[in-house]
Amino acid sequence: MGLRPCTAADLTVLTEKWPVPGGVHEAHASNAAHGSSDYLVAWRDGEPLGSAVIRWTGFVGAEGRVAHPDAVEICHLQVRPEHRGRGVGTALIAESERRAEERGRLLLAVKVGEDNPGARRLYERLGYRATGTVDVSEYDWVDDDGRTHHTIERDEILLQDIATE
Ligand SMILES: CC(C)(COP(=O)(O)OP(=O)(O)OC[C@H]1O[C@@H](n2cnc3c(N)ncnc32)[C@H](O)[C@@H]1OP(=O)(O)O)[C@@H](O)C(=O)NCCC(=O)NCCS
Repeated sequence: MGLRPCTAADLTVLTEKWPVPGGVHEAHASNAAHGSSDYLVAWRDGEPLGSAVIRWTGFVGAEGRVAHPDAVEICHLQVRPEHRGRGVGTALIAESERRAEERGRLLLAVKVGEDNPGARRLYERLGYRATGTVDVSEYDWVDDDGRTHHTIERDEILLQDIATE
């Protein structure tokens, strides 16, 4: 498995092989081009397996930014259903941590919804600890039928100081 920030050439293959409605890949890649984040993609044999965004600027929501202003947030972690349970998610988080450490950024955060105990179990196994702080984010997303939905999401922040691990 290879993990790298999405290049312009990668984006063409990514949107072709892993179509996500609403221009999600394009939006993550475009934000990364401004330097505020990285759009990390895992590949095997030219096939995209999953991806994650590393937000160098921390949380979008005010609650998270105020409580943990120095944190780097790993978000939009997504592994394609047929590739789950084989370490891709773990590898994306490990590579995000490695890149953060390289920049001297040692406080890492993830957010998880109450309805996602599977992801929480993975994060806890990797050393992320609950903070009790709930971050509220509001966004639009497009379903498979092309309908746009507006969501207000409440996610608990989990943190890990990679210097002490
Ligand atoms: C959560 C997710 C990224 C994990 O990716 P992955 O490549 O399957 O993860 P790994 O193989 O490294 O680790 C497996 C662990 O992931 C968790 N997990 C959550 N949903 C899972 C699923 N559908 N299949 C397999 N593992 C899942 C479990 O904790 C599992 O550990 P377990 O075997 O002890 O139950 C992936 O399941 C996914 O994309 N889910 C949908 C999107 C999502 O919930 N993202 C996280 C938002 S906070």
